[in-house]
Order: sequence, then structure tokens, then C-alpha cells
Amino acid sequence: MSAQPDGRTHVRRVAASIEEILGPGAHREPFVHGDGKSGVRMERVVVDGQRYVLKHLHVADDWIMRATGDLAGRPITLWRRGLLDRLPDCFDHATVGAAWDDRPEGRGAVVVMRDVGEWLLPEGDVEIPLDAHLAFVDHMARLHTTFWGFRDTVGLLPLSQRYVWFGPHLADVERARGSTAAVPTRLVPQGWDRFAERAPDAAPVVLALLEDASPLVRGLASTPATLLHGDWKAGNLGRDLDGRTILLDWAVTGAGPPCAEIAHYVCLNRARLPQSKDATLRAYREALERHGMDTGPWWDRQCALSLLGTLLMFGWEKAWGEDEGALEDLAWWRARALDGAREL
Ligand SMILES: Nc1ncnc2c1ncn2[C@@H]1O[C@H](COP(=O)(O)OP(=O)(O)O)[C@@H](O)[C@H]1O
Ligand SMILES: [Mg+2]
Repeated sequence: MSAQPDGRTHVRRVAASIEEILGPGAHREPFVHGDGKSGVRMERVVVDGQRYVLKHLHVADDWIMRATGDLAGRPITLWRRGLLDRLPDCFDHATVGAAWDDRPEGRGAVVVMRDVGEWLLPEGDVEIPLDAHLAFVDHMARLHTTFWGFRDTVGLLPLSQRYVWFGPHLADVERARGSTAAVPTRLVPQGWDRFAERAPDAAPVVLALLEDASPLVRGLASTPATLLHGDWKAGNLGRDLDGRTILLDWAVTGAGPPCAEIAHYVCLNRARLPQSKDATLRAYREALERHGMDTGPWWDRQCALSLLGTLLMFGWEKAWGEDEGALEDLAWWRARALDGAREL
């Protein structure tokens, strides 16, 4: 551990360059994958017969870093500050190193991970096996109880920013840069228009909070906080032979209400859940209790506000669904928005 002159501690070193980590003789090739959404460059590498994946973090390449105000590269911060080392042993984050990656347009970084591709959930709308799903929910609760009361002093994603990054400025900024990424320039802005039409009861609440999320953030501040991974969706998840949860993509990590994580999980994995959303929320609550948390005093309020908060992030996405399952899902979320509004 190296103490900095200002007293901060950096537990892990970030190498000066990726060549320093890989050494001579590394075989590198571009890695094209289906599930990522950020637009970042990835590579596959083989060193001494071991397979690795490199993820490049550059603000210039990555609209999620821009939208969430991530100048330092949160996965690098988590690595340097030793937060990944503090994960409970039911997790595998796959990260083995990090390096700076400077370019003329600015500082960037590279995360070096073991290639865990064979253990990731398959792409597409394949149902998550029930035992894997229940293990994910249990491990999520272990993550949260491990970091219970977490306060961010290292510059992760603040809750106020988490709730508004899909707001109107996203499309404005990306279009002004000439971005062609479909999510920020088309699917999000058009999705919010559709949400206003298809959820006329919920949309006024959600769209007003998207302009000013402070009532929601204040409401949640009176309930417990922890460290959120921030993006528990199937594309970032896997399960290894020992039953550990592989959890990738620590780009939107930060302090926040634990219920926000399970709300995100039921939102983005909707078509793949082997249990209903309500049953999944109950399973998560039971897991918190099993790991020693008394949820009685705060659960109802935090859960209602967190589900409303999830709609600030993904109301636009819920408005695109056309099949029967998606319509039922939208109806469920509309009711949750109204429940949440009552807690503001
Ligand atoms: N360590 C790894 N081993 C194997 N595949 C990986 C690894 N890291 C990422 N991937 C694959 O690349 C995809 C995108 O990586 P991710 O870090 O989730 O970026 P994005 O920000 O684009 O979602 C993942 O969904 C996964 O399929
Ligand atoms: Mg991802």
C-alpha cells in the first residue's frame, strides 16, 4: 500500500503503460462482443497461454463515461483504492491489472481482466436458471451488507447523477458531437416521447424528477446506503464452477440505496427472470435479513422510491416494448411510479 503525500491511500498500482503489464510476446486482437452498450474498444490477449480481455476507458470513446461524468475511469478508481479487493469472496470481478493509456486527446486507461467468457450468461432473452438467479440475489445482498453505510470519498457515481444521466442533455451532447450511437441519440429521446404517451399517469412524475431529482435523492438519503455496482444486468453477469458470481463492468459504481440495485436487476433482466419481479424483490429482502440486516424500518419507503428512481433511468426503455410481457411490465412500472410518488 502506498500512502500519498495528501494522506490518501492507493492500494493497487496502475502501470505506466499496458506494455509494462503484458510484456513482450503478447498476442493481441480486437474483441467484438454483443452485449456491451458503451462503445468502448476491447481486445483479447494471450500471454504465456493465458487468455485475457482488455477494456479501454477513454472519455472520447465512451458515451456512458461522458453521460455519467466519469473523467478518471471508475473501474480504475475501484482498483487503485482497493475496493475490488474488499468484495466478499462470493464474487469474481476478473480484474488483474490496470494501466494508464495516454493519447493526444487525453488520459485514458486500460483494465486487464482474465477472460471469463465461458462462464458468462448467454446473450439473448434466455431465462436465467433459477439457482443462478437466487445466487445472484443472495450475493447482491452480501455485497450490500459488506459495504453497509458506505460513503463515497473517492469520486464514484453520486446518486444525484445516477438518476439523471438519461435526461434530455444526453441526446443534446451526443448529437452535438456527431455521435451515431443509437441508444443516446435515438432510443433514449424517442423512448421518453413514447413513455409520455404510453404512461400518461406516471410520465409527469418521472419527467419532472428527471429535470430535478432532488426530492427523490433527499427522500432516499433518509434510508440506508451501501456500495452499488450499479449495473446488474445479464450482460455483466456470470457464474463460475464454484458458484461464485462473476460481476463485470464497474463503470457506474457508487454509493446509493441497496434497493436501487435489485430494482435495476428486475428492470433490465425482465425478459430473463425465472421469478416475478415481486418475488425477486422479496427474495432480496429475505437475503438481507439472512445476512443480518433489519429491513423493517426502511424497506417500504426505500423500495418504493428506488423503483421510481429506476424509471428515471429506464422509463424510455420500458416504452419500446410491444409484446404482451412488455405491456404487462410497463403497467407494473406505472403503478410503482405512483407508489413512489406518494413517498416523496
Ligand atoms: N473479462 C471478460 N471476459 C470475457 N468477456 C468479457 C470480459 N469483460 C467483458 N466481456 C464481454 O464484453 C462485454 C462488454 O464489456 P463491458 O465491460 O460490460 O462493457 P460495456 O460497457 O460495453 O457494457 C460483456 O458484456 C462481455 O460479454
Ligand atoms: Mg456491460
